[in-house]
Amino acid sequence: MTDATAARPTGVETELRQTHPLPRFSLSDASPATLRTPLLVAGVYSDGTLTAAAQTLDAASRGRLSAVLKRGDLEPGVGSTLLLYDVPGASAQRVLLVNLGAPRDFHEHSFFKALYGAGKALGRIRADEGSIALVDVEVSGRPLAWRIMHAARILADAGYRFDAPKQAKDDGTQRSRGARSLTLLLSSKATPGLETAMRRGAAVAAGMALTRDLGNLPGNVCNPEYLAETARALGRTYGFEVEIHEREDMAKLGMFSALSVGRASDHPCKFIVVKHEGGGGRAPIVLIGKGVTFDTGGVSLKPGDDLDMMKYDMCGAAGVLGAMDIVGRLELPLDVVGIVGAVENMPGGNATRPGDVVRSMSGQTIEILNTDAEGRLVLCDALTYAERFEPECVIDIATLTGACVIALGTQTSGLYANDESLGEELFQCGMDTGDRAWRMPLWDEYQEQLRSNFADMSNLGGRPAGSVTAACFLARFAGNYPWAHLDIAGTASVGGDAKGATGRPVPLISEFLLRRADRSPARS
Ligand code: BES
Ligand code: MN
Ligand code: ZN
Repeated sequence: MTDATAARPTGVETELRQTHPLPRFSLSDASPATLRTPLLVAGVYSDGTLTAAAQTLDAASRGRLSAVLKRGDLEPGVGSTLLLYDVPGASAQRVLLVNLGAPRDFHEHSFFKALYGAGKALGRIRADEGSIALVDVEVSGRPLAWRIMHAARILADAGYRFDAPKQAKDDGTQRSRGARSLTLLLSSKATPGLETAMRRGAAVAAGMALTRDLGNLPGNVCNPEYLAETARALGRTYGFEVEIHEREDMAKLGMFSALSVGRASDHPCKFIVVKHEGGGGRAPIVLIGKGVTFDTGGVSLKPGDDLDMMKYDMCGAAGVLGAMDIVGRLELPLDVVGIVGAVENMPGGNATRPGDVVRSMSGQTIEILNTDAEGRLVLCDALTYAERFEPECVIDIATLTGACVIALGTQTSGLYANDESLGEELFQCGMDTGDRAWRMPLWDEYQEQLRSNFADMSNLGGRPAGSVTAACFLARFAGNYPWAHLDIAGTASVGGDAKGATGRPVPLISEFLLRRADRSPARS
């Protein structure tokens, strides 16, 4: 088989594989006033109340912090920051104040926002190392380990940059900003449990960075072969078993629904399976990702506006690979199978036409009324394939419908489940990480919208409840195990000036995996 990427070089392939390094983390119980550090980060509330760390600095500087705050230079709003130089009495070269908002209003979401603001500011400051005194605040009764884990994750993630394809500036500044190591300051001694929380947070950020890199890579680089190569690289790094089913293997398996999407692309479809065996052979958790590396809509061609955003149509797959990276990094005591259906949806002389009928791996036939409703055509065969693992549960992740963006916007993922407790567990994982998802219905009445005159179902449910009918389509293939579906069309990437992949829903999924790991009898 010819490698279409190699046949048409773009000149950026190798360069694009680099990612911006994430900071290393450590814990310390050093005092904020006497600590020698290029940068110290401390929190203050919007009414002028100081956190313990800020109080220590204020006392050492004989009231300098309160005096500065009285002048009102710290912008209102949680997460805004103010950089101070040469604070008298402090051993830190710079002090970064972070607005925590109103003390009475301070809860999980403000904690996340404050950390994100601090992390963004850290990325702009030229300091190799920073010390952060933000985890010693009270957050709705959340334990210190929880605060440490989320601090490490968010501080690292906020500093994420994707600048690999840009030329380095002459002075080398392009890649050098952002701290290389961050110390989280505690008012008590670190313990092994707190170290674990820190390592977990950093691992989640690393998985998110992989997810974001894959999303941000252009469609001419991140094609089905590239996703397969990434899976192989994960296999080499963590010892995962990796299987790549080629187009011909997919045909032998009967995956004619998935194959129908990639027919007109020069990049052949790949069906990717990555296995982590850490749970002692119990029923695995299966994660399935939509890996449409570019979605033109096919013959039902999409309009041109913002079409470049359709390179993000593989963010479900990127999330699965990012989650597998975390599983490998933390050697979680679970069996986890990651599945990616990698295809490119192109128009062409060999493309699927509206009205074509295909047989899925399950045997059910599908009338393809719109070739732009392709994600479900790929996922349905992956859902059938997943049956062979006799899974504990299956979660699919997909940038599935524009209708989900209309329903929930860009803040919230759509969450569907055929199993009440799995749905509730995932909902809680979203709430606890700030990577929120909202439960949506799968009621049978919606199934009528998928009726076809020429096959067992059509792939199109019409305009009303478009996200629900897409999920209902998937439900027809997921009847044999507890299953949940995350529609991340609105949350996986952002457009506009800050255009880029967000790394969602990796925080939610990794929280789910960590909870299952903590419950696992295989836990060492
Ligand atoms: N990849 C899109 C969904 C999407 C839209 C993701 C916007 C991110 C942002 C999906 O394949 C698609 O095209 N869905 C169609 C389905 C329709 C034809 C039933 C849609 O949402 O319009
Ligand atoms: Mn589409
Ligand atoms: Zn799509």
